[in-house]
Amino acid sequence: MNKLLKATGFSHHLLAQFLGNGQKVIDATTGNGYDTLFLAEAVGHSGLVYAFDIQEQALQKTRELLAEHHCLQQVKLIHAGHEKIKEYVREPVQAIVYNLGYLPGGNKKIITQAETTLLSLQQGTELLSPGGVISLIIYPGHPGGQKEAELIESYLGTLSPRRWQVLKWSRINGNYVKAPYVLFMLKS
Ligand SMILES: C[S@@+](CC[C@H](N)C(=O)[O-])C[C@H]1O[C@@H](n2cnc3c(N)ncnc32)[C@H](O)[C@@H]1O
Repeated sequence: MNKLLKATGFSHHLLAQFLGNGQKVIDATTGNGYDTLFLAEAVGHSGLVYAFDIQEQALQKTRELLAEHHCLQQVKLIHAGHEKIKEYVREPVQAIVYNLGYLPGGNKKIITQAETTLLSLQQGTELLSPGGVISLIIYPGHPGGQKEAELIESYLGTLSPRRWQVLKWSRINGNYVKAPYVLFMLKS
């Protein structure tokens, strides 16, 4: 399947337009590490990826993936919830990536929560540099996912259009009502 037809592929494609060597970025939901690896390769050895997850199992998987691709040195793995993002990141960043929901292959009951995701996102909008980007992959199909989607979208709707451009990628035909979709936030 063409990668642009998948939410993750589309998100990476857009993010790539904004990323370059030496940048500081955040992966707010590290999971199995595929987004972290993508970010680490994009910013190179002179850059830095802050990678958050609440599950040690996820961080361990990511550590192994990064080591395999010789990208461990530019990633700081952080065993903490992304709602504490500002306690750990004290400098502006060029990009923040959220891939919400549960860890694929892990415990499906451990999922991102609407309230903490929102807390994190609010801090993320402050940390982001002008010209930077936030990508969110939203999963409305699992329990709590629809509530999280609604809370995020209603918050994004309050952002000033002079400061923020917020875009949405989603499927609109077929049986895709609950399919994952991408929200993309650009800061002026
Ligand atoms: C869909 S997975 C992420 C997929 C990942 N980006 C990848 O490329 O494999 C969602 C992850 O969010 C994590 N998570 C849940 N609540 C969190 C929180 N408050 N802060 C940080 N991570 C959280 C879960 O443990 C899970 O690993």
